[in-house]
Amino acid sequence: MVKVLILGLGMAGTTFTVGLERIKRGEIPPYGVPLADVDLGVEISDIEIVGAIDVDVRKVGSTAYEVATKLYGMEHVPQSLDEIRVYPGLGAKYVKDLFPTHDEGESWEEELERVYETFKKLRPDVIIDVTTTQEGKTYVDWAEYEEDVARGTAAPSQAYAFLALKYAREEAPVAYVNLIPTPVANSPAIVDAARDFGAVIFGDDGATGATPLTADLLEHLKERNRKVYSIAQFNIGGNTDFLALTDERRNRAKEGTKSSVVKDVLGYDVPHYIKPTGFLEPLGDKKFVAMHIMFESFNGAVDEIIVNMRISDSPALAGYMVDLARLGKLAIELELYGTIYEVNAFYMKKPAPLGSKNLPRIVAYHKLLEFIRKATERRELVEEVSA
Ligand SMILES: NC(=O)c1ccc[n+]([C@@H]2O[C@H](COP(=O)([O-])OP(=O)(O)OC[C@H]3O[C@@H](n4cnc5c(N)ncnc54)[C@H](O)[C@@H]3O)[C@@H](O)[C@H]2O)c1
Repeated sequence: MVKVLILGLGMAGTTFTVGLERIKRGEIPPYGVPLADVDLGVEISDIEIVGAIDVDVRKVGSTAYEVATKLYGMEHVPQSLDEIRVYPGLGAKYVKDLFPTHDEGESWEEELERVYETFKKLRPDVIIDVTTTQEGKTYVDWAEYEEDVARGTAAPSQAYAFLALKYAREEAPVAYVNLIPTPVANSPAIVDAARDFGAVIFGDDGATGATPLTADLLEHLKERNRKVYSIAQFNIGGNTDFLALTDERRNRAKEGTKSSVVKDVLGYDVPHYIKPTGFLEPLGDKKFVAMHIMFESFNGAVDEIIVNMRISDSPALAGYMVDLARLGKLAIELELYGTIYEVNAFYMKKPAPLGSKNLPRIVAYHKLLEFIRKATERRELVEEVSA
């Protein structure tokens, strides 16, 4: 069994709970789960969501079923989601500007302690962070990180990661999957501690929509030695994630994780504009993406690629969450602590460890399969030895 705890039961977290349950019941095929047909030794049916943590007053104390049906008006929601409870989280003050938040009236220290008790009660193997994007700094030094968490000046995701590390040290191995841009897996202090304490950290920021496609298109141009002049990529969406990103500081966090793709793939920098551009409510969760790439080809010909698409934002990420829960479990079973580049390079916009390259996803996919082949071989070996 893979026990999963979701941090942030928003659109992505809720879509994951609904879709996973429907796949497990045989109601829908696992389309959108990249490794659905790959044998990891951990099945989709092994995943069990043990709870969610949130700070939205409309969600805390209710169940995943209520959030999916009443708040998001989703259809085909299995009744069994009534068993998934939403527990109160930490750091509500960071999102007070976006929605009414739940307040337990505690000190910061008490907030940390309470969430840690929730971890201990639910005993997750994998914790998946899909909370609202927050700006946060990169931690290289453990003492500084520890101090900022204690003072409440680290980003909420970094505080959750700190509690996950404490849990790994004191209770049991755990995988922490950071799907938001805040530097968690890209903080060397966090990854080093994970290696020492028995945790694995995947991150940062799920690469679902236009970014992986841009990376693959740039690889296509590079392989043909076409010289790229400029890249423009617009993203306009109507979900709360886009609303949150209308805040300049939050958007900066996102922009950083999206832009690194250009130099990493091409090997040289190019004038580019790649960032979430706007919030337009009627678009809902199905964002509008437009892309323009201008490049020079043989004998001075200047050509252009123009892409227009509508992408359902949350289902794209939710499909990845299914894989990452299984991969997290595989990693802790094999004691592969720290972080795993082959996993991050395929699923993340800013693949850890810090300073790692963004690979075209076509290349990253094959590296991931190779990693899985070796990991499952090792697993068989471990099983043989212990038999
Ligand atoms: N395709 C995608 O949807 C995609 C891709 C990459 C990254 N992301 C990132 O994933 C995250 C989730 O996306 P979403 O569309 O579900 O957003 P959302 O706004 O619908 O959900 C975020 C949830 O986090 C909760 N939250 C906020 N602060 C919290 C805290 N401190 N503790 C616990 N819960 C908290 C909110 O109440 C909300 O329920 C965003 O940060 C987004 O940038 C999404």
